[in-house]
Amino acid sequence: MTNSLQWDESCVTGFLALDRQHGELVEGLKQLVTRVEAGAPSVELAGLIDSIEVLFLAHVVDEEWVMSWIDYPALAEHLEEHRAFIDHLEAIRRSAEASSLDRTVLSTVSGRVVAILRDHVADADRRVGEYAFRHALSG
Ligand SMILES: [Fe+2]
Ligand SMILES: [Fe+2]
Repeated sequence: MTNSLQWDESCVTGFLALDRQHGELVEGLKQLVTRVEAGAPSVELAGLIDSIEVLFLAHVVDEEWVMSWIDYPALAEHLEEHRAFIDHLEAIRRSAEASSLDRTVLSTVSGRVVAILRDHVADADRRVGEYAFRHALSG
């Protein structure tokens, strides 16, 4: 894999629950890539993708609540990125369920989704944390 899986302080939002969820999402995606490359059957891969989707949906409920709570000004753009990420997960699902499963393609697409998640957290999610601590929670 590429260094897109690196998860360091540039991915910390300051909200412990959200940071923990981000870590779980990355671990889920890493596990998916590992199982794809190990030749796991499509049904197992589909189950892993289901789990990642459940994690992501639970995460965005929490994160979007935080944004509403702090009256975050860039909420609409942020929600659009969340919707786009769900589309990326659906693309992984279609790839995993294709009649002729191409593991190289699925591994590559899954790795790209990890990079997309990392970039989202390091940019959009971190800005939520910075806004919260600078404007909303500073008293
Ligand atoms: Fe987000
Ligand atoms: Fe997030």
